[in-house]
Amino acid sequence: IDDFFKNIVSHAKEYGFVFPSSEIYDGLSAVYDYGQLGAELKNNLKTYWWKSMVQLNENIVGIDAAIFMHPNTWKASGHVDGFSDPMIDNKDSKKRYRADQLIEEKIDRYEKDGKSDKAAELQEALDAALNADDLAQLKALIEEHNIVCPVSGTKNWTDVRQFNLMFATQMGAMADGAEQVYLRPETAQGIFVNFLNVQKTGRMKIPFGIAQIGKAFRNEVIARQFIIRMREFEQMEMQFFVRPGTEMEWYQKWKETRLKWHLALGADSEKYRYHDHAKLAHYANAAVDIEYDFPFGFKEVEGIHSRTDFDLSQHQKFSGKKMQYFDPEVNQNYVPYVIETSIGLDRLFLTIFANSLVNEDLSTEAKQDSRVVLKFHPAIAPVKAAVLPLTKKDGLPDKAREILATLKMDFNTQYDEKDAIGKRYRRQDAIGTPYCITVDYQTLEDDTVTIRHRDSMEQERVAIADLQRLIQDNVSW
Ligand code: GAP
Repeated sequence: IDDFFKNIVSHAKEYGFVFPSSEIYDGLSAVYDYGQLGAELKNNLKTYWWKSMVQLNENIVGIDAAIFMHPNTWKASGHVDGFSDPMIDNKDSKKRYRADQLIEEKIDRYEKDGKSDKAAELQEALDAALNADDLAQLKALIEEHNIVCPVSGTKNWTDVRQFNLMFATQMGAMADGAEQVYLRPETAQGIFVNFLNVQKTGRMKIPFGIAQIGKAFRNEVIARQFIIRMREFEQMEMQFFVRPGTEMEWYQKWKETRLKWHLALGADSEKYRYHDHAKLAHYANAAVDIEYDFPFGFKEVEGIHSRTDFDLSQHQKFSGKKMQYFDPEVNQNYVPYVIETSIGLDRLFLTIFANSLVNEDLSTEAKQDSRVVLKFHPAIAPVKAAVLPLTKKDGLPDKAREILATLKMDFNTQYDEKDAIGKRYRRQDAIGTPYCITVDYQTLEDDTVTIRHRDSMEQERVAIADLQRLIQDNVSW
């Protein structure tokens, strides 16, 4: 399993999907850059989400709010006081850990060693300590269960403290008197503070939604597992405003709609599961995660939260502006309730990558053979088609470039004339290109080409004039 994960990370790097940030300086912890193909795949995922939210729903509109927001936003939302993780330091290694995760790892170890009773007991104690925000109890559990620092191997721990996850910076030229602002830790607040603007200017009627895609920043303490937990990442969030009392109905609806959306990307349904939250955040009255079965276990990809009227009411209190809606159907003013769908784009990227990467054995009796393929849904594949002249001579490259010119406005298309044709097919398989178009001598005579299908590897002869339609039919949703 670990090998498969390593394989994903190295394939993503080798083919230009994901690079460590500022790698020539040895990288920056938990920050990553998307390369030439990663950027394409990410854009396609954003488009898929945006279309399914904004274009397909008459009552959902999209915005693009700034990353910087008035500092009071984060007081109102509860992030200044409450957006923190319980931290503990080991005095010998000087390494910092999340106290709850150290305990979770111990629970896993008990499970692996067949000590299920001890695991269950510790899990219960951990849940109780977290629910009560009891930091001293977390420390006591770490001591009682002899949890040692993975680096120093010692039990020389500090007390457990809360560590705020927001990045702060100064706004204005002079540090003196400059205002402290935060890099937003979620995109949602940009939607809440614009509730009145959008509702009024868009003449939106409840129920309606506001969607947004954008960067979010968290100073994660345990930052590992590649692009699962990053310090700079991207969210795709939608806040759906409803009449109080109808929120559970909408919560159920969005819960189902969002899972279907994931499944439409082509993954097996057993790879996904719901995980209901036992412990609810201070603003929520129901919450569920959609989890994906990664090589290292099930992890959250998306959260659906019933956030009540918490955020709008808090902004009403802090700003003094009425965050209300007049509902003509019931002839009443009220602060709407909110159902939120919140998906991490980078995590979605990794689910798609993990789900698509296949090592296929093509051996026959005569010879051993294999290939690595990224079996992306054609609609999200970064490159849709590659045009390949069979040889570099006799006018085949010119003909191939002519075909390329007819396709490249509509599809991200590559041209490749280097190496034997088989090797070029393999290169396209490895980046998930659904179609390879080969230009050969017959093309010069009758304006037909072969088109090779990535998954079946079958080839068919088609007229150049039909290429556009054939690709279009298969790469659209
Ligand atoms: N507005 C609600 C909210 O932000 P969240 O559960 O904290 O809820 C939503 O985050 C989603 O954002 C998660 O399901 C996950 O996909 C993604 N996410 C959160 N923290 C992340 C991180 N450090 N790196 C990458 N993705 C992250």
